[in-house]
Amino acid sequence: MAGMEQTLLLVKPDGVHRNLVGEVLARIERKGYVIADLKMLTATTEILSEHYSEHREKPFFADLLKYMSVGPVVAAVIEGSRVVEGVRSLSGSTEPTMAAPGTIRGDLGRDWGNGQIENIVHSSDSPESAEREIAIWFK
Ligand code: RTP
Ligand code: MG
Repeated sequence: MAGMEQTLLLVKPDGVHRNLVGEVLARIERKGYVIADLKMLTATTEILSEHYSEHREKPFFADLLKYMSVGPVVAAVIEGSRVVEGVRSLSGSTEPTMAAPGTIRGDLGRDWGNGQIENIVHSSDSPESAEREIAIWFK
């Protein structure tokens, strides 16, 4: 369909561990988006290095990979018109302590004082990123 778009959503290991998979997916569905594909897996270093390649040189890269591989994630392809910006908006800003109430990160996350930004979900930041990321997670 014209204008139809896809994005990649991940429920990160902290979200799965805290039993928030249903809560996150329910918010996506209630907004009116469609879950087009879905799976649970524990991410390898290889997948995560590809997924977060833009952050390879950042000081937090090693800790980010450790956080993302500590347990299973749920990966989903979400579909709908303007879904990339829509799911970014539902997710909220990166730091959960300051993310707006009403968003997934703002309602369900906080700083746990362990030095790691644990923020429950990932969502693609552009249609180009979405295409690249979906190819990584749904080979
Ligand atoms: P994401 O890619 O996971 O959806 O998150 P985002 O776009 O909101 O944030 P991004 O800048 O892409 O950062 C990716 C993830 O890396 C962790 N992070 N840690 N210690 C730090 O300063 C730091 N900065 C980012 C977070 O888990 C963030 O979601
Ligand atoms: Mg990002």
